[in-house]
Amino acid sequence: MTDFRKSTVYQIYPRSFYDTNGDGFGDLKGVTAKLDYIKELGVDYIWMTPFFVSPQYDNGYDVEDYYNIDPRYGTMEDFEELSREAQKRGIKLMLDMVFNHTSSNHEWFQKALAGDEKYKNYYIFKKGKEDGSAPTNWESKFGGSAWEYVPEMDEYYLHLFHVKQPDLNWDNPKVRKEVQKVVRFWMSKGVKGFRFDVVNLISKDKFEDDFEGDGRRFYTDGPNVHQYLKELNAESFGQDAEIITVGEMSSTSMENCFEYAGEDSHELSMVFIFHHLKVDFMGNEKWVLVPTDFQKLKDILFSWQIGMAKNHAWNAVFWCNHDQPRPVSRFGDEGKYWKKSAKMLATIIHGLRGTPYIYQGEEIGMTNTDFTDISQFRDVESLNHYEILQQKGLSKEDAFRIIQIHSRDNGRTPMQWNGENYGGFTKGMPWIGVNENYTKINAQSQLHDETSIFNYYKKLVAL
Ligand code: GLC
Ligand code: CA
Repeated sequence: MTDFRKSTVYQIYPRSFYDTNGDGFGDLKGVTAKLDYIKELGVDYIWMTPFFVSPQYDNGYDVEDYYNIDPRYGTMEDFEELSREAQKRGIKLMLDMVFNHTSSNHEWFQKALAGDEKYKNYYIFKKGKEDGSAPTNWESKFGGSAWEYVPEMDEYYLHLFHVKQPDLNWDNPKVRKEVQKVVRFWMSKGVKGFRFDVVNLISKDKFEDDFEGDGRRFYTDGPNVHQYLKELNAESFGQDAEIITVGEMSSTSMENCFEYAGEDSHELSMVFIFHHLKVDFMGNEKWVLVPTDFQKLKDILFSWQIGMAKNHAWNAVFWCNHDQPRPVSRFGDEGKYWKKSAKMLATIIHGLRGTPYIYQGEEIGMTNTDFTDISQFRDVESLNHYEILQQKGLSKEDAFRIIQIHSRDNGRTPMQWNGENYGGFTKGMPWIGVNENYTKINAQSQLHDETSIFNYYKKLVAL
């Protein structure tokens, strides 16, 4: 049995990992093709972000069909091949389950819109206020109202994220059964790990206006979240002791994490928390430029390390994922101390108590994008906020500077494999620009260099 406390996870964002058919879009075969590289690093698991059928408004976090693979990524046969090949190398697969919401293309939502009461209950529809305005003043995480009006129904539906990502109603037991079924399906395909997307938002509390914030206190770590997770555990992954799970916890509290990831709570193996990645925000406000508060960063890491340990709960430890800028650019140095600072940051993560996660490209010190124009950005959150910042009165230049620093696309440019065109990521036209520094920063040049960042990570993983 693998002990998740002794494991390391490598995160793959498949669309930016490796493209095998020249359409500029990474695919499952691309992951299979690079398994030896991953094996070389020595990790135990790969977490892959969603590759299920999706219209891709939020790069696959808008799932239209949980049981099938989006043709852009390949086929079920490709997945099975990947699973077999990974197993041969002793690597286990962790899938990304997005259950707080579906895509608006999902057949459940389509049925709901067509007036089917059963499916309407799968989502959160509410009447507007007396004056016809939205039920509450909550804001979507991607900007604007969290409610969308449906004229035919004269009702609004809740979407904490994109308007094409309606929130599921977890208070409906039928929804919880559907979710359990999806998890069991992928377990039957040999999957040994799950990451649950924004899973602490599934239990909504009061539908009230928030005059202190953007509404998050009414739906974060909600009243039934622990009960729902215990149930999911008992009805699905908890039946296989080998499975490890991690919950993505948005704006959570430590007390809740003691329970989400407590040794005896039968919820999840561990949690991702984000407080340490807000030290260059203004409170919860990401779209500002403020200097990184390194003292605060240390304080947060310390208090979570101590708090979680005392309460027998387990952390996932990480600097980066597909939603974050590159750590070497953010907390280290892209210039003179590029290599040293990348290794320093690696040492911190791998020295902490918790299961370390390495995000693709981090192990070779990849940096933020070198984009100079907004048209090069792809992320819906960045594009929305670029507009919102200008509506607030910022100049184009100032708005752009903020996007450059904070955009999720910083972590989404293609993996830099070698010094060939597009860093060897594709033979076609990449869906998003490759950083021009691929000639200097690439995997090939580091594999056989004993002093490279890659080989430093390799030692840390082994340790
Ligand atoms: C998580 C994902 C992010 C996605 C959001 C909505 O934060 O990591 O990429 O946009 O949830 O599903
Ligand atoms: Ca492809």
